[in-house]
Amino acid sequence: MLTRELNSASALDAAHSVHPHTNLRAHLEQGPLMIVKGDGIHVIDEDGNRYIEGAAGLWCASLGFGNARLGEVAKTVMTDIGYYHNFRGASTPAAAELSARLAAVAPDGMDRVLLQSSGTEANDTALKLVWYYWNAKGAPERRKIISRSGAYHGTGTLTSCLTAKANFHAGFGLPFSGFLYTGMPYHYRMARPGESEQEFSTRLAEELEAMILAEGPETIAAFWAEPVMGSGGAITPPEGYFEKVQAVVRKHGILFVADEVICGFGRTGEMWGSQTYGIEPDLICCAKALSAAMQPISAVIIREHVFQAMLEQSDRYGTFVHGYTYGGHPVASAVALEVLKIYEEMDLIGHVKSIAPGFLAGFEALRDHPLVGDARGVGLIGAIEMVADKTTKAMHDPSLKVMARIDAATRRNGLITRLIGNRLALSPPQIITSGEIEEMFARLKASLDTVAAELN
Ligand SMILES: Cc1ncc(COP(=O)(O)O)c(C=O)c1O
Repeated sequence: MLTRELNSASALDAAHSVHPHTNLRAHLEQGPLMIVKGDGIHVIDEDGNRYIEGAAGLWCASLGFGNARLGEVAKTVMTDIGYYHNFRGASTPAAAELSARLAAVAPDGMDRVLLQSSGTEANDTALKLVWYYWNAKGAPERRKIISRSGAYHGTGTLTSCLTAKANFHAGFGLPFSGFLYTGMPYHYRMARPGESEQEFSTRLAEELEAMILAEGPETIAAFWAEPVMGSGGAITPPEGYFEKVQAVVRKHGILFVADEVICGFGRTGEMWGSQTYGIEPDLICCAKALSAAMQPISAVIIREHVFQAMLEQSDRYGTFVHGYTYGGHPVASAVALEVLKIYEEMDLIGHVKSIAPGFLAGFEALRDHPLVGDARGVGLIGAIEMVADKTTKAMHDPSLKVMARIDAATRRNGLITRLIGNRLALSPPQIITSGEIEEMFARLKASLDTVAAELN
């Protein structure tokens, strides 16, 4: 039963389109937010409402919405070839050039690139590569994977097990055994009273080591981490965290997989979140801003010692038996290649570095707001956390529906944000200007003021 009048596309959607991460019954009744056009950092809905897309869609539309230059590239490749695969040694110039360009911007020593179509596929592929590696090394008992509470690495069957959020497992009979979850680096809520960021990081590293020793280091294959936890709440790591955790991982000979699906391509102020936090990963998973989200494409970037093990396996079994029909798709590859050229032309990293202080100051200014307990970020990603009491950090009574009120208020004010529990994250398109950042925070502040007034 529809609860509002829908135009034809929305009515079709409500009747036939099943939506991920959506209350299915509510969708049947309310229909979609139907976005019909993009313009820079803005999207426009079917009723002509214009929003600043403060979340860049799903942390991904780095160049904003709509892009004629990328449209021309896609059109040319689609007209000229449209499709070819990368199985059995086949390739296309676009896939080859993209791989080379990605290797050129990857951290030193990471020169091998395996293309697929989504962040989930990249993480799933990396998981198989980790097991392939340890089998090649004669250590098949290294099977267990350590991820972190609150982590998000996709929603495939195995990647849902890497994802360490209870609501992603409920109803699916997941996770499988062999996936372990260590502490979330969420200082605001998880630190003990008076515990500094450094002390908290030390404790998390000690807890990780205790887990490894209890399980047996010889059974642990890899440690999996997003540099900044996106869907966990835009959680930036506490001081010293990656240095300490990485030392433990290395000490026990465990592979480090950096999930850079959100953090890659300037989100944290460097090309890779790994560079921002001094991580030296064995495998990087990237997607999203790789193509400015204009085409579905992802990559696993592979450190040489892992690739050498893959060579050994390929020798042993005759081929590297893995791949997807659309891996290295020429249209997606050509668009991603052009996106990387655009990043170079616009000096993406320089641009993010120059506007990030204004973005972070926006969060800082919200710290004193009566609804806000925590506010922090890095580069062009950050979040505020809503509390009922700043001292005790108590959350609001769920019956007050504070986050739903904030969502409604921001939408009325022409701003789309990302809500995660009682946190509100912003990760705008990287093309955003300082003036647009000010406008985005002005709309957010006005929305919070409205909700604070409603609650009073
Ligand atoms: C860190 C991280 N890894 C993996 C994924 C999964 O990517 P996809 O939705 O393209 O499968 C996401 C998606 O948001 C993500 O944020």
